[in-house]
Amino acid sequence: MTIGFNRPHLAGNEIEYMLQALEKNRHISGDGVFTKRCHAWLEARLGGKALLTHSCTAALEMAALLCELSPGDEVLMPSFTFVSTANAVALRGAVPVFVDVREDTLNIDEALIEAAITSRTRAISVVHYAGVSCEMNSIMATAHRYGLKVIEDAAQALLAYYHGRPLGTIGDLAAISFHETKNLISGEGGALMVNVPELAGRAEIIREKGTNRSSFFRNEVARYTWVDIGSSYLPSDMLAAFLLAQMEQADALLGERLAIWGRYHAGLADLETAGLLRRPIVPPHCKHNGHLYYILLADLDQRRRLIAHMKTNGIDTPFHYVPLHSSPAGQRLTRTAAPLPVTDSIAERLLRLPMWYGMRDEPDIVIDTVRKFFGR
Ligand SMILES: Cc1ncc(COP(=O)(O)O)c(C=O)c1O
Repeated sequence: MTIGFNRPHLAGNEIEYMLQALEKNRHISGDGVFTKRCHAWLEARLGGKALLTHSCTAALEMAALLCELSPGDEVLMPSFTFVSTANAVALRGAVPVFVDVREDTLNIDEALIEAAITSRTRAISVVHYAGVSCEMNSIMATAHRYGLKVIEDAAQALLAYYHGRPLGTIGDLAAISFHETKNLISGEGGALMVNVPELAGRAEIIREKGTNRSSFFRNEVARYTWVDIGSSYLPSDMLAAFLLAQMEQADALLGERLAIWGRYHAGLADLETAGLLRRPIVPPHCKHNGHLYYILLADLDQRRRLIAHMKTNGIDTPFHYVPLHSSPAGQRLTRTAAPLPVTDSIAERLLRLPMWYGMRDEPDIVIDTVRKFFGR
């Protein structure tokens, strides 16, 4: 491919910080100096309590443990999401229950949530697709009425906002990703944001193999021991060193990403006006983070033809999630609250355009190649 879909980038100090972790700090296991600095950055920019994890998947698993899900419990979520949103729930023996998404943002349709609640519902897991917020006011109000926890799958949503509030700070718990396709990266990486103080202590314990090791290092207990269930969810300080270098450049990186997003949006505007495709819709009260740029096509066949056309021109334009309710594990482990017509439709029609830092002419080439497909 001449223009790949993603390309990992260096923001500046990654290698120097990794060497510092190894040679100066002599600490490359978890919770070293760099992890603490990443926590401080997240807490300053978002609020709440931050705990770095080795992936967003790990943070979602921690959230499921913190919600004390048991076999048979239900968690509402969209089917148009990454497997980890559902897997975290299924690992506890609980059942992901799918709710359809909105036509405009492709996020869970808040108007359909109440009808999907049963006596077994314990939580709502919302996904801010492409860094555009779900309708959190309505979702939080429904959750409070029924005593449900809210988990934000904010894998794609770092530094995006809803009515001025950072995503990842509105639900009880939130999971962020630093996977190499995300806005800030450490190869693999993630964070759990704990927004309700009463869950913070247990979150630390679950992350540290069920021990009170974090309290021990704060000199709160004389020795540490096994106090609860847990696993090893913390990343090496070497990866935190890499991540901190990215965090330090977050605003510049965000600006660059938004500029690429804006070029795509402007370059394809008239194709939307002509009814040839649909561009992303960002409600005015949502400030997105340029995480990804997608277009919606007429149908599956047209998408197949456009992907082939782009590939012939050396451009990688992948589709995205295959709805989980249609997957083999989804059919065994999940339930749909009601038919999911919007999910089924948009999942077949969505195509993502290349997006990475350091793009120069590439967005224009991508735009021209899409335009040629439509004879424009
Ligand atoms: C919505 C969503 N949730 C969770 C994940 C998992 O993130 P990670 O690879 O950091 O585990 C992804 C990954 O792309 C995602 O898009």
